[in-house]
Amino acid sequence: MGYYPKNQCLLAIEHFIFLQGIPMAETDSLIQNDNETETAFDLIAKALEIKGYIVLADGLPIKLGEALHRRILSFSGEFKRAGIGRGQALTQDDSIRTDCLRWLRPDNLAETGYLAWMEQLRLALNRRLFLGLFDYESHFAVYEAGGCYRKHLDAFQGETNRVLSTVYYLNPHWLPSHCGELLIHAPTGGTLLQSVAPAFGTMAIFLSALFPHEVAVTRRKRYSIAGWFRGR
Ligand code: OGA
Ligand code: MN
Repeated sequence: MGYYPKNQCLLAIEHFIFLQGIPMAETDSLIQNDNETETAFDLIAKALEIKGYIVLADGLPIKLGEALHRRILSFSGEFKRAGIGRGQALTQDDSIRTDCLRWLRPDNLAETGYLAWMEQLRLALNRRLFLGLFDYESHFAVYEAGGCYRKHLDAFQGETNRVLSTVYYLNPHWLPSHCGELLIHAPTGGTLLQSVAPAFGTMAIFLSALFPHEVAVTRRKRYSIAGWFRGR
């Protein structure tokens, strides 16, 4: 699916890249431009409007996905244990989540390309829906074999900051026997809506406050980028 159409995207990306001080031409090679993008954004917006979530088999341009894959494999020692809760209430608990994180920064091509793509998606969704998406935060995540993340909501209670969640997967050759699926549950009643294999290129997008979800125990090392569009 969708990459950038030349005319629609260039201004915003140019602006974004200018802000980050990275030459346009370099990021351009990761963010292809073609006519499918607006159709893809339409599809995403429609799905969010109708059912509140969508799972895409090819969530990013392939070159960008490959660059992010190289990037995540290049880290050594950058990942930090994820906590639960916020501020003073932040704790670590292996029985709830086991992932290690490294927040994205626009200081290299792959990460800048990813953030530029998400900025495009943010603008596209704001044009089509009334979500009022204001900014985007994201981190690389790694779960070692045996890891999981118990059922949770991404929007903290009493806060409306996280509006829309995204997860992009970076695992080539993922097999059903590796497990580690993202399980998306119905807002009420606990029905399983979709089981998502964390296969390379797959992207899940869902309303943060609405869908309880979990990462089933993984049998293999599992890489992803989780992110959140925030409201004001
Ligand atoms: C999260 C999360 C899901 C996944 O990081 O909040 O729910 O599939 N991740 O990695
Ligand atoms: Mn989550």
